[in-house]
Amino acid sequence: MKLIVFNGSPRGQKSNSTRMIPWILKEAADDICYLNKSSLYDTYLRKAKTADSFLFVFPLYVDSMPGITKAYFEAMEQHKTDFAGKPVYFVIHSGFPEMVQSKALSHYNAYFATEIMGMDYKGTVIIGGSESMQMAPDQAFRKLQINLKLVGQAIKEYKNLPEDINIRINKRERLSGFRRFLFRITPGPLKNFYWHYRAGQHGEKIDLKGRPYG
Ligand SMILES: Cc1cc2nc3c(=O)[nH]c(=O)nc-3n(C[C@H](O)[C@H](O)[C@H](O)COP(=O)(O)O)c2cc1C
Repeated sequence: MKLIVFNGSPRGQKSNSTRMIPWILKEAADDICYLNKSSLYDTYLRKAKTADSFLFVFPLYVDSMPGITKAYFEAMEQHKTDFAGKPVYFVIHSGFPEMVQSKALSHYNAYFATEIMGMDYKGTVIIGGSESMQMAPDQAFRKLQINLKLVGQAIKEYKNLPEDINIRINKRERLSGFRRFLFRITPGPLKNFYWHYRAGQHGEKIDLKGRPYG
C-alpha cells in the first residue's frame, strides 16, 4: 500500500495537522507532503501519481480550507486521469469546538473527490477544538487518538470511514446549551487569554476594541 499524506496547514511542520497525523497512522508521519511548500507541487504530483490512496489533513480557515490546500486540489485536477478511482480520505479540524462548522466543507470534499476528480471518496473526519493542541500534552487527547486509530485502520484496508466516526470524536454537532451558557458567562480576559498569549509570542498585541473596517 502506498499512501500519500498531504498536510494542508499553512503552519507546515509546526502545525496541529502535523501533530495529529501520527495519531492516524504512525508510519505515515515519515513521508508527508507539506502543501505550504508550493514550489514542490510538481514533485508532489509526480509522487502522488504512483500512490494507491490519499489522505488530506487540513485546518478550517474562515469556514473553508486554506488557500494552499485549494491550490493543490486545482493542481491535481489538471491531472485527474491519474487519480480516477483511487481512494481518498480527508480530515478537517477547526479551532472552535463545534463540528457543525466544518460540515459544509466536508460536503465539498465529497463533491471534489467524486464529481471533479472521479476518485473513490471514503469520507471526512471532523475534529473540533484542535487549537488547544498547541498547549496541551498528548495525554489530553487520548480519546481522539483511539478514534483516529480506527481511521488509520480503515485507510490501511481501503475501507469507508466508520459511519459514526464524527459523533464518536465530537459527541454532538453543536455545543450543548450548558456549554454555550458557560461560554457566555466566562469573563472576557479568561476567554481571550489564549489569543493574547499567542499574539505575545510574536511580539504583537491584540486590540479587542479595534475596528479596522470602521
Ligand atoms: C486565518 C485563519 C482562519 C481560521 N478560521 C477558522 C474558522 O473559520 N473556524 C474555526 O473553527 N477555526 C478557524 N481557525 C483556527 C484553525 O482552524 C485552528 O487554529 C487549527 O488548529 C489550525 O491548525 P494547524 O496548526 O494545523 O494549521 C482559523 C485560523 C486561522 C489562522
